[in-house]
Amino acid sequence: MSKIDAPAHTIFVCDGSKCGKYSKEIRKVFKAKIKENGLKDEVLLVKMDCSDNCDYAPVVSFQPENVWHGEMTEKKAEKFFDKYILEE
Ligand code: FES
Repeated sequence: MSKIDAPAHTIFVCDGSKCGKYSKEIRKVFKAKIKENGLKDEVLLVKMDCSDNCDYAPVVSFQPENVWHGEMTEKKAEKFFDKYILEE
């Protein structure tokens, strides 16, 4: 079997045509939070394609919480990381 161990959390950051212009800055926030909290093995950061929520760009999804947020900012990214990843 070639089963892969799943990380405890995955954060999907949309990198589609609408969200893409903000995606790098948002990912930078998550990367810094992952590093400063030593969560490299527990939190996977993934660029995702457009999820057809472009009206809410930029879009981020936290899994397995299955929480989706639009109109993401760097400040909100920090707040939601604390809420969904650190305080769970
Ligand atoms: S480009 Fe991000 S939801 Fe469409």
